[in-house]
Amino acid sequence: MNEKIGLFYGSDTGNTEAAALRIVEILGHENVDLYDIYDTKPEQFHSYRFIIIGLSTWHDGELQSDWDSFFDDLKEIDFTGKTVALFGLGDQVVYSHYFIDGVGIIGQQIYENGGNIVGVWSTEGYGFDDSKAEFKKGWFLGLALDEDNESHLTEERIINWLDQVMQEFNDVNTEKELKN
Ligand SMILES: Cc1cc2nc3c(=O)[nH]c(=O)nc-3n(C[C@H](O)[C@H](O)[C@H](O)COP(=O)(O)O)c2cc1C
Repeated sequence: MNEKIGLFYGSDTGNTEAAALRIVEILGHENVDLYDIYDTKPEQFHSYRFIIIGLSTWHDGELQSDWDSFFDDLKEIDFTGKTVALFGLGDQVVYSHYFIDGVGIIGQQIYENGGNIVGVWSTEGYGFDDSKAEFKKGWFLGLALDEDNESHLTEERIINWLDQVMQEFNDVNTEKELKN
């Protein structure tokens, strides 16, 4: 890819931030601009066609606090022509009925605002009761990471997911080039 990816994340206790930093490391610092949604302006989304979004879920299915504050701004962002991949941090044991709900909430809004979503992820191997991120049976709208119970799987999950996402970003690019 010859254009930069915008990675926007929000994190309360640092788990999503650590995953975001790892993603930047894997993709290469020169290929990704990193934004903490805490001090991001909506205009900063405008220049990216390829976007990665990371967030955790809190308090029985609520958005991470900074994403919650940003949500009204998000509703106004036009995602037409943008391709977005999401990853979410959650706890599938204690919050089994709300596992990574935030991915579902943000993803749905991006979809409504015209965004193309890639990076959907199988629910196989996870143990949870319910999730707003499970947009169709057996599929999350993005990568699910569980640092509370399965931190040993995080590295492998991130690497496999990024392989898939970069392939999908490149496919979008090729399709656009073929059209031109
Ligand atoms: C009070 C509290 C509420 C939580 N609520 C949820 C929840 O509803 N769904 C979920 O999947 N995880 C929930 N979690 C787990 C966090 O999302 C998880 O620990 C995550 O790794 C935190 O990421 P962060 O440090 O980036 O904010 C909760 C954790 C705490 C302490």
